[in-house]
Amino acid sequence: MIDIDKLVRENVRKLTPYSSARDEFKGNTGIFMDANENPYGNLNRYPDPYQKVLKTEISKIKGVEEDRIFLGNGSDEIIDLCFRVFCNPGVDKALTFTPTYGMYEVSASVNDVEMIRMPLNDSFQIDLESAAKWFSDNKLKLIFICSPNNPTANSMNFNDVEYILSQFSGIVAIDEAYIDFSEKPSFVKLLKRYPNLIVMQTFSKAFGLAAARVGMAFSNPAIVQFFNKLKPPYNISTINQKAVLHKLNHIEKYKVEVLKIKRERVRLSAILPEFGFVEKVYPSDANFLLVKAKNANYIYNSLVNRNIIIRNRSNLIDNCLRITVGKRSENDKLINALNDISPSK
Ligand SMILES: Cc1ncc(COP(=O)(O)O)c(C=O)c1O
Repeated sequence: MIDIDKLVRENVRKLTPYSSARDEFKGNTGIFMDANENPYGNLNRYPDPYQKVLKTEISKIKGVEEDRIFLGNGSDEIIDLCFRVFCNPGVDKALTFTPTYGMYEVSASVNDVEMIRMPLNDSFQIDLESAAKWFSDNKLKLIFICSPNNPTANSMNFNDVEYILSQFSGIVAIDEAYIDFSEKPSFVKLLKRYPNLIVMQTFSKAFGLAAARVGMAFSNPAIVQFFNKLKPPYNISTINQKAVLHKLNHIEKYKVEVLKIKRERVRLSAILPEFGFVEKVYPSDANFLLVKAKNANYIYNSLVNRNIIIRNRSNLIDNCLRITVGKRSENDKLINALNDISPSK
């Protein structure tokens, strides 16, 4: 059985966290003279540091108990917290499977943690045998798995990920930022079986709230407590908590939007290969398509000149472009622009 306390940095274990006025008095009514707030205005009070109302709603939709939920200032805050809780700077290591989301490596550098980069195989899946060689390294504390993966758009094989969870005795953080666009199951269902599992999701993608900066981590309550210990006390503003609550109270709208994006993904996936300069459109479980082209730089620049901005990922995967699925009207404009660029269609 994994002992989470033993995986946590000693200074974090010993840390006495900041105790806010809202930590000390938890009631909602009264004359509040405890937090040096201004008595005037609508946004004059500090937010709930533990976002209790929001977590109650999230718990209902995700089927995860409230004490297993942590909310961060975007998933990016949660990624950084993983390093700060589990990795000693200049000593410990983390591992990820590349190409993948760039923040794992940036956060590793910020925290002075060595990042081991294991290339995904030709099908963009994990090479388990090579990865397993690292499991016995006692400096390896953290493995990041992005599924569905950015920028390759595919999900990792469920059994491979479960193998890692069962064989590696450090922390496995699975980033499911794009899970709502996928038909594959979430790893959330493994939370009770693996105490070393952290599943990250976000309101930035399917919920359309990238500006609100709210990311979720689902994990075991002990890990949630350590995240709470390290986070800034008021990491999610009242305005942003309300923006998410509003969206959750209109969940039907979210479902319709996700459906529209998935339909457009199918449409674009069928149309794009008809262009002579497109070599391959990879299958996608996300809200974007990875497209291999004959001359990615030329297409990228030609689209920018027509005011359509996609992402050139050629530095990560040879001649590959990443195209976020837009509204139908936006996708039509993309298709028209590609027709312009390629009269040979
Ligand atoms: C895989 C992945 N995780 C996380 C994020 C960022 O999420 P958030 O907006 O919640 O910080 C992104 C953003 O592109 C992403 O691609």
